[in-house]
Amino acid sequence: MNSTILVLNGPNLNMLGTRQPEIYGSETLDDIKNSCVKHGKNLDIDIDFYQSNHEGELVDWIQKARESYSGIIINAAAFTHTSIAILDALILSELPIIEVHLSNIHKRESFRYSSYVSKVAQGVICGFGSHGYILAVEAIARLINEQKEKI
Ligand code: DQA
Repeated sequence: MNSTILVLNGPNLNMLGTRQPEIYGSETLDDIKNSCVKHGKNLDIDIDFYQSNHEGELVDWIQKARESYSGIIINAAAFTHTSIAILDALILSELPIIEVHLSNIHKRESFRYSSYVSKVAQGVICGFGSHGYILAVEAIARLINEQKEKI
């Protein structure tokens, strides 16, 4: 049976394609979703892909993930740098977590250097644009397989 993973996207990522393409690229979030789903299939991974501009909605999805998913890939966008609520929900999920950012957050304004999500993520992928999501799907597939082998 395929494992299912949750891919979560935070505020303003619904605007990809038009939002600062020099930083975030010209692909839309739908394009990214489609390539994640396609790539996941090759790795026997099913993907549920969501975006919200609302912190509480992201927290709700993370809370539910515990029962239904094998791992979480998250680009919490601006909430990365501010949200203890998202960090607490991620801790509670007890799932493997990969943090993704399209841009290299360490090369930008200093307020983007710190990440609450990093405190619980297994690994962080940033600066590779939309390809970072594919790298994250590969990384999480490997983590899930390693876990299955241990059982
Ligand atoms: C981002 C980086 C964040 O600092 C920013 O607030 C975003 C997008 C990225 O993918 O590069 O909205 O997470």
